[in-house]
Amino acid sequence: MVKICCIGAGYVGGPTMAVIALKCPSIQVVVVDISVSRITAWNSEQLPIYEPGLEDIVKQCRGKNLFFSTDVEKNVAEADIIFVSVNTPTKTQGLGAGRAADLTYWESAARMIADVSTSNKIVVEKSTVPVKTAEAIEKILSFNSKGINYQILSNPEFLAEGTAIQDLFNPDRVLIGGKETPDGQKAIQTLKDVYAHWVPEDRIITTNLWSAELSKLAANAFLAQRISSVNAMSALCEATGADVSQVSHAVGKDTRIGSKFLNASVGFGGSCFQKDILNLVYICECNGLPEVANYWKQVIKVNDYQKKRFVNRVVSSMFNTVSGKKIAILGFAFKKDTGDTRETPAIDVCKELLRDRARLSIYDPQVTMDQIQRDLSMDKFDWDHPVHLQPVSPGSVKKVSIVWDTYEAARDAHAICILTEWDEFKTLDYQRIFDNMQKPAFVFDGRNIVNVKKLREIGFIVYSIGKPLDPWIKDMPAVA
Ligand code: UDX
Ligand code: UDX
Ligand code: ADP
Repeated sequence: MVKICCIGAGYVGGPTMAVIALKCPSIQVVVVDISVSRITAWNSEQLPIYEPGLEDIVKQCRGKNLFFSTDVEKNVAEADIIFVSVNTPTKTQGLGAGRAADLTYWESAARMIADVSTSNKIVVEKSTVPVKTAEAIEKILSFNSKGINYQILSNPEFLAEGTAIQDLFNPDRVLIGGKETPDGQKAIQTLKDVYAHWVPEDRIITTNLWSAELSKLAANAFLAQRISSVNAMSALCEATGADVSQVSHAVGKDTRIGSKFLNASVGFGGSCFQKDILNLVYICECNGLPEVANYWKQVIKVNDYQKKRFVNRVVSSMFNTVSGKKIAILGFAFKKDTGDTRETPAIDVCKELLRDRARLSIYDPQVTMDQIQRDLSMDKFDWDHPVHLQPVSPGSVKKVSIVWDTYEAARDAHAICILTEWDEFKTLDYQRIFDNMQKPAFVFDGRNIVNVKKLREIGFIVYSIGKPLDPWIKDMPAVA
């Protein structure tokens, strides 16, 4: 029986290993983590992450060929294939702070593998890491090898949160990078055999190590760039009377461009896009390519601009002041169908509104109260991001209430801001909401999910990103 051990039981490691266990009954999969609470949760009824379809799979496989354990060393020692799926946040201090990836967790995992291994191993990079990390890891392992043969593979994961299980079941491609030596090719084949249990062979791409590592950064940068491109267009649409949805539709019909990932929004969030672009920018700078670095930096700057522009619309529409006014925030997660708030645009929007002394009432169907409080009170380090410059005072965080129902959030509010595209926000009883709000009642739709015409008929003043402006809002131009 092939034994797989995955170090890191997070958003990537957990779902990926669950699907491997489900699709490969002949393989034993153990997911290990240093976090006792995470492992306890994976072994309980309440999994540590929310992902549609995940719970069923875990229930089917757990205890059979899928295990979650804190005994990292024992399980690593016994494994044939070790996936490393630890976190690689952006460095917060020292050289490359704010841009370079922090590889502390990766390095400690590699040293631990070298310490405990007594048999040959295939070590698979699963977390997104800077190009040439494989080489560094190989050095750590081979300098401490005790005669053991380590083969390093890069197998970046392309799943998106909220659709992780679907993406794993039916991936556009599986990418495996390895050395061009016979041992390297043999290791690639071993990993290919795992995926071949359910992924058609023509979707399994093999490359050299550096191409695999760079492809992951490039894919995320291209995706984020599409969103910044359409968001930049949304500002121009508002200025000219064009409708960004119509523009996206028309542009996306060109098969060379394609229709996906062209939804204008309050900005992209998530743990990957910004981190990977910053990492790409850093690599370009280190390689003496400032023009390339500046090109990609702009994708993040437009994203920050979009969040700032949204807040400016809110404040300027409401007579240039939100001080003391109750604003309902619908949605806090960085996208629908996840409870994840990493880099969610909601954090920046809420912090800006709090700085303008608004009172916020926040509702999200999946994000916990603790998480929201933590996100809003934590003073994040950030790299020349104008949005984050001023900290939020502890006093203003007290102006936040977190509720478990939209209607409660909107009661007596002056405005509603929709910041996550949860399906339930499309079918709310907006008449009932309107009746219980202060007048004039505003809706600021940061995800373009409401029926603008219907809401205007009810009496709302509606702002929807990149759509022709309400006359009221047009008369109060935002300074962005
Ligand atoms: C373009 C648009 O494709 C067309 O829809 C529009 O109506 C007019 O402008 P055109 O300029 O005739 O058409 O040619 P196109 O095939 O788009 O190529 C433009 C340039 O991009 C060429 O110099 C081409 O060599 C270059 N190119 C194209 C690349 O360098 N790489 C590519 O992958 C594609
Ligand atoms: C992304 C990549 O899609 C995935 O391939 C990679 O493995 C990890 O990073 P994820 O961050 O989970 O996945 O979600 P994604 O669906 O890409 O959305 C990222 C952000 O972009 C979200 O905030 C989303 O709301 C926003 N978005 C997405 C838009 O604003 N408009 C769009 O058209 C699409
Ligand atoms: P991702 O979104 O990439 O999956 P997460 O932050 O969700 O990232 O998960 C990474 C996990 O890796 C965390 O649960 C963390 O506790 C774990 N981890 C980090 N370093 C180690 C290590 N050396 N050994 C085991 N687990 C680790």
